[in-house]
Amino acid sequence: MQREAARLLQTGKAIAFVPTMGYFHEGHLALMREGRKHGDALIISIFVNPTQFGPSEDFQTYPRDPDRDASLAESVGVDVVFAPEAEAMYDKAYQTYVDLEMLPQYLCGPSRPGHFRGVATVVAKLFNIVRPHVAIFGEKDYQQFVIIRRMVRDLHLDIRIIGVPIVREPDGLAMSSRNTYLSEDERRSALSLLQALQQAHKNVAQGIRDAGQLIHEASELIRSYPYTKIDYVAVCDPETLENVSRVEGPTLMALAVWVGKTRLIDNTILTIDY
Ligand code: PAJ
Repeated sequence: MQREAARLLQTGKAIAFVPTMGYFHEGHLALMREGRKHGDALIISIFVNPTQFGPSEDFQTYPRDPDRDASLAESVGVDVVFAPEAEAMYDKAYQTYVDLEMLPQYLCGPSRPGHFRGVATVVAKLFNIVRPHVAIFGEKDYQQFVIIRRMVRDLHLDIRIIGVPIVREPDGLAMSSRNTYLSEDERRSALSLLQALQQAHKNVAQGIRDAGQLIHEASELIRSYPYTKIDYVAVCDPETLENVSRVEGPTLMALAVWVGKTRLIDNTILTIDY
C-alpha cells in the first residue's frame, strides 16, 4: 500500500481515502461516492481494528463479508482496497498510541474505555500508509468525526476531513453494520432513537430550550419501547462535546441506547430558527 500511495503521489494524483471496518451498507457507499468527488484516486481500507474494541465487545463476532465488500466498492468506483492483516498493523512489540485529552471523555467514552484511543491510533496509522489529501468520515459516529478532525489539527496532518450526513434505512433507523444483530422485535424498538431526536426538534421549535427537559422527554420516549436501555442522552456543544444547559445555537443531541444486546447510537444538530 505504501508503494502504491507513493506511486500515485509521484504521478500528481490527489488521494481520497475512506477508512472502514467493512460489511458495507449504503452509509459506507455514500462516503465512497463523496470521496470520488474529491480525489483522482479513491482508496478505502477494510480493517476490523482490534485496539478499538473492549475486552467484552464484539471484535470476534463483528460481521465480515470481504467478497461482497470488494464488489460493492468496485461498483462505486473505488480504485484501491487496502485490507491489511492485524499482524501487519500491530506487530508483537507494538507500543505507540494516539491519545486525545478531552474529547474521548464525553458521550461514548465512559462506556467504551480505550475505544477512541484505538480509533485515533489506527486512523493516524492508516493516514501515514495511504497518505491521503482528503479523508471522509460519517457524522453517524459524530464523536469519532470531531476526534479525527482535532487529531489532524493537533498533529499538523495535511489532510482535509470531510463529514457526510447520516444515511438511514427507509423507516429512519441509522444504518449500521451492527443492525444485523437485531431481532425483529428489537428492530422495531430501535426506531425509538430517531423518534427521540425528532421529538427534540419539535420541542425546540415550540420554544423549549432547557437541556434537562429535552433529555428527560427523549429518555421517557425511549424507555416506553421494550428491550431498550439508555446508555446516555446528551445535549452538548458540537465542537467541544461539553454538556450545555440550554439550546442557544447549533447544539448536538447525541444518544446511545442498548436494544437487547446491541448498542446503537444516533445524533442530530438542534438549531433555533429566528
Ligand atoms: P465503520 O463503522 O465501518 O464506519 C466507517 C465509516 O462509515 C465511518 O466514518 C462511519 O461514521 C461511517 N458510517 C457508518 N454508518 C454510517 C451511516 N449510517 N451514515 C453515514 N456514515 C456512516 O467507523 C469505523 O468503521 C472505524 O472506527 C474506523 C474509522 C474505520 C477506524 O477503525
